[in-house]
Amino acid sequence: MSTDIHKGLAGVVVDNTTISNVVAETNSLTYRGYPVQELAASCTFEEVAYLIWFGELPDAAQLRSFNERTRSQREVSRSTISIIDRLPDNCHPMDMLRTAVSCLGAEDPAEDDNSPQANQAKAEAMFAKLPTIVAHDYRRRQGLDRIAPDTSLGFSENFFHMCFGEVPPKEVVRCFEISMILYAEHSFNASTFTARVVTSTLSDIYSSVTAAIGALKGPLHGGANEAVMHMMLEIDDPAKAAQWLRDQVAAKNKVMGFGHRVYKDADSRVPTMKDAFTTMAELTGGEKWVAMYEELEAEMLSLKGIHPNLDFPAGPAYYLMGFSIPMFTPIFVMSRITGWSAHVIEQLAANALIRPLSAYTGESQREVPAATARL
Ligand code: SDX
Repeated sequence: MSTDIHKGLAGVVVDNTTISNVVAETNSLTYRGYPVQELAASCTFEEVAYLIWFGELPDAAQLRSFNERTRSQREVSRSTISIIDRLPDNCHPMDMLRTAVSCLGAEDPAEDDNSPQANQAKAEAMFAKLPTIVAHDYRRRQGLDRIAPDTSLGFSENFFHMCFGEVPPKEVVRCFEISMILYAEHSFNASTFTARVVTSTLSDIYSSVTAAIGALKGPLHGGANEAVMHMMLEIDDPAKAAQWLRDQVAAKNKVMGFGHRVYKDADSRVPTMKDAFTTMAELTGGEKWVAMYEELEAEMLSLKGIHPNLDFPAGPAYYLMGFSIPMFTPIFVMSRITGWSAHVIEQLAANALIRPLSAYTGESQREVPAATARL
């Protein structure tokens, strides 16, 4: 009897969700029913985080209370900082982040409390602390003293403050905010589904997030935004981009920042992020990177009919904001912690262990030879 194998679970619907809707046919993405493009045009990331968690955009009082609650939790314990400081300087920041989240869990006496209220509180604490951790790690690698979080600043302003000691012009902050909104949630992508699998065993949220960080690190997933910038720096000259791409395709190499498992005709988030990237280029004199982007996009479309995904414009945008490349995927985590944790809470409510089947194609059953015949 032949068994239908769905490699990579491509096209397989495994559960319901009310958090976001990714519609390949219409190339659209909504968070709790709101088009992501409209959220990026008129909301702060803190408002969108609230929406993803609570299902509705906050009113003024709810937003004030949410901001007070989360901004007051930005500090990280000395023990977690000391563990980060003992990591090798050359370890990848995603390894650092995975370790730091494990520390947050180890420090939490209520780690195994899987009630929705407890997990919401843990999610908000990670939302508040991850930027502090990423910024501290960035400065430690530069040999710079850490800069404490500033509770008077918004999510994005505070991150720039902790990284660089200053808040850039509001146009730059807005481009970063847009990237946070676009990266926040994307239904059952590999890292989110990883979090749901771990949660489905009734393990704790820190274990789910640690596992999701491991999944996101891969260059086929979140790690692509770093790979895009390494690729662009290697090409360096926009005039060489088309030939570079032709060589990659001829060698059957995957070009990071292109393609998507769900969106086959363009990633719905790309136009909004491309606009933010273009704004960054205009603000910083980085127009050559936009020229290179457009050369690569046109060549890949003509050669393989493959469109860019969100990581393609996000990588160079972060580069122009002044972040070091190994920070790009940790920055993705700072945003996606909202989607991951919302799915953890939703999976717990579904209360269904995730355990698929496999089709065995190995040796037929056979007897173990006597030891004397073996040895
Ligand atoms: C993210 O799932 C999500 O929602 C993820 C994400 C999110 O918000 O969580 O959107 C974030 O991870 C975006 C994707 C970032 N990854 C990359 O940019 C890595 C490069 N992309 C590819 O590896 C690929 O496109 C995937 C992994 C993203 C999707 O791959 P699929 O659906 O498994 O398709 P495939 O690898 O089977 O490719 C189908 C064909 C192949 O050609 P043939 O062998 O049939 O001739 O398209 C080709 C592939 O070679 N192809 C590419 C390509 N992507 C697909 N060829 C060159 N470069 C690419 N990037």
